[in-house]
Amino acid sequence: MEELLKSLKAQAAELIQKATDLQALQDARVKFLGKKGEVTALLKGLGKLSAEERPRMGALVNTVRQELEAMIDDVQAKLEAEVLAAKLGAEEIDITLPGRATRQGHVHPLTAVNDEIERFFMKMGYTVAEGPEIESDYFNFECLNLPADHPARDMQDSFYITDSVLLRTHTSPIQARTLQSQEPNSPVRMIAPGKVYRWDYDATHSPVFHQVEGLVVDKGITFADLKGTLELFLRHMFGEETKVRFRTSFFPFTEPSAEVDISCCMCGGEGCRVCSHTGWLEILGCGMVHPNVLTMNGYDPNEVQGFAFGMGVERIAMLLYGIGDLRLFYDNDMRFLKQF
Ligand code: PHE
Repeated sequence: MEELLKSLKAQAAELIQKATDLQALQDARVKFLGKKGEVTALLKGLGKLSAEERPRMGALVNTVRQELEAMIDDVQAKLEAEVLAAKLGAEEIDITLPGRATRQGHVHPLTAVNDEIERFFMKMGYTVAEGPEIESDYFNFECLNLPADHPARDMQDSFYITDSVLLRTHTSPIQARTLQSQEPNSPVRMIAPGKVYRWDYDATHSPVFHQVEGLVVDKGITFADLKGTLELFLRHMFGEETKVRFRTSFFPFTEPSAEVDISCCMCGGEGCRVCSHTGWLEILGCGMVHPNVLTMNGYDPNEVQGFAFGMGVERIAMLLYGIGDLRLFYDNDMRFLKQF
């Protein structure tokens, strides 16, 4: 048995020293020291020895075991160091490379346009007002002089919550809310940005979109004030060379009313696909505040006059940035948003 132990030790030592990778080393460990290993088998065979022989042989086998284990640990440490050195050599870090910049976000194009509109009117001395998106029929229609049979009051065209409560279809109710919150006949100069809701969905209409309302009321306000203000505003947004024209139109809450066009910002007025070859783009609605609206909201039309306007933020953003489909604003596709 002693002879066998000696020869096993020599074989094991050779295999361990020759191991060139961790797997070969592990195989050697299993072959000699594993549960069914050859050295382990000797330990199991001790029972067959005589009582005097047993402790001596047991001690011998255990010593060999420990020696082999120590040898394996040494070789393992050596092999692991080699693996690590190879890895470090291969993955060399170039500390002279420039760092990786973190990408900075920015505001959404609709927010950017809305902010620019607000900035312009704030510089002109307007306050910024807000109102609820869930609105009463009273504020959304009635006190804006919309007759009961107006199509926008139809259940099919707007999102009703009850018979008399709906998602506001425009920001004009804030005109009425502002007037009612003031001392009667006191001057008003405000804009009101916000979301509005209509039963519409295609490339240029969304069921939710953004408007900015404007209202100015004071003694002696005329159509000339309206014209001057909106011309200044539109040249600020679309460029100094922009031409502005007023077309007669109709809104129940303004009289007279006008639709405002700008010379096409795509073709400069030559005529193109965007302006349907007319050279003009419709950009907002406006007019002198209807005397009924002043009266219904506690103001005296013989004392004060005013003008109002309303515009769609999506429409302005589409024209400013040359965007063909309004739905892109809501998709949150980074490939689109990154461009602004
Ligand atoms: N509220 C109108 C709309 O949504 C726009 C408008 C506002 C027109 C103020 C005139 C005056 O279409």
